[in-house]
Amino acid sequence: MRKNALNTLRGGAAALYGGFAAVAFMVTLGTSPWTTEATAGGGDDWKAAWVRPTSVPFPEENPYTTEKATLGQKLFFDPRLSGSDYISCATCHNPGFAWGDGLPTGYGHKMAKLGRRTPTILNSAWGELTMWDGRKDSLEEQALGPIGGKAMKQDVSAVVEELTAIPGYRTLFNVAFPGEGITLENIAKALATYERTIVSGIAPFDRWIAGDQRAISAAAKRGFDLFNNKANCAACHTGWSGTDSGFHDIGLPDDDIGRGKIVKNVVKLQHAFKTPTLRSIAQRAPYMHDGSLGTLKEVIDHYNDGFTRRESLSDEIKPLNLSEDEKADLLAFLLTFEGDDPAVVSPVLPANEQVPGAWLQRLSPAAGGKAETAECRTARLHLDHCN
Ligand code: HEC
Ligand code: HEC
Repeated sequence: MRKNALNTLRGGAAALYGGFAAVAFMVTLGTSPWTTEATAGGGDDWKAAWVRPTSVPFPEENPYTTEKATLGQKLFFDPRLSGSDYISCATCHNPGFAWGDGLPTGYGHKMAKLGRRTPTILNSAWGELTMWDGRKDSLEEQALGPIGGKAMKQDVSAVVEELTAIPGYRTLFNVAFPGEGITLENIAKALATYERTIVSGIAPFDRWIAGDQRAISAAAKRGFDLFNNKANCAACHTGWSGTDSGFHDIGLPDDDIGRGKIVKNVVKLQHAFKTPTLRSIAQRAPYMHDGSLGTLKEVIDHYNDGFTRRESLSDEIKPLNLSEDEKADLLAFLLTFEGDDPAVVSPVLPANEQVPGAWLQRLSPAAGGKAETAECRTARLHLDHCN
């Protein structure tokens, strides 16, 4: 399993995971490594907590190989994984929107409105529990969920058969998983491997941490100080990616209780959601699990004094009394997380089998196929009687 010193929480926050798996990887920091003095140009020790990692962690159970990542990318962009053959993972996790969809909440099969906003999958190699409420333990465990669920509505038991009918996939799976071929487990492993390669590009913030004083503006430097001190953002948005991977109630007023549905008896986990990364944050509006805040200015106003008071509200959320200038500085700092993300080239997908006989067989009721199914296969999105 992975162990990552960047998954740090401040002392006392362990309970906020509400699960045991993640706690094992926690390194508790006794004292805050950042101070006003340090950010003003004192010693450089405080920088260690913000330095980009130099390698991506992969779990022992599913180590990186180029073959798996290449296959995983094709699967991620392939709409044939969905029931309609129309929706791919990338439909919602769109690289153009920093791997989200730019919508308040996602739309799945037949435009079914999903309950929560599509989160980015950027830097998910460093996460522990996945989903807004942490209900999945790993990317491998998560990967088949959307295929069978409201998002893509595929008959999961048929997906292996569908991919096996595509010659290119037979080859790709045999190369990536010699002797095993196409299985649900290997589909999940390939998708997870590809997802772990999706890492934010270098941002002005990184250049500044690396020592380039001119990489960010004076306003952004003041904003970083606010982020760590008066505005208290770094209580939860820690480390190079800006997340403690923990769960907190920040006082959004909707009825969704998030992690509370999974961990029922911890007051502070009611209405708690996973702290999102802050990388490429400007690309990813609207914000929060319900997409209820349209701009970063609205987010800052929320934290300043716009939150709902209730028992589960995190103790770290308090009125901030930020002036308009301070809000502007904080925003300037958040924008330093906009990096040069690597260009994403849409992969060439394995072609469908080009044997006329095979298609006719599926069409012909006499040959055991169902005409209606064939009709649905070509026009599934438009016909009411099709699944
Ligand atoms: C219709 C839109 C949609 C499609 C298609 C979709 N997702 Fe998602 N994805 C979501 C939403 C919405 C969530 C958050 C759901 C929640 O937390 O309750 C999510 C969550 C995730 C997460 C968790 C991220 C985190 O921060 O914990 C991962 C990883 C992920 N999806 C990967 C995939 C993969 C792989 C596929 C394709 C097999 C896929 N998604 C297809 C909308 C979609
Ligand atoms: C108590 C922990 C905590 C503190 C303190 C905190 N955040 Fe957050 N932040 C979160 C959590 C949890 C979410 C997701 C909440 C949700 O969707 O319900 C979040 C969401 C966000 C988002 C939206 C990210 C997205 O992808 O939707 C931004 C931007 C943000 N916070 C910035 C800040 C700033 C700026 C501050 C300081 C003023 C701050 N946060 C203080 C935990 C915290």
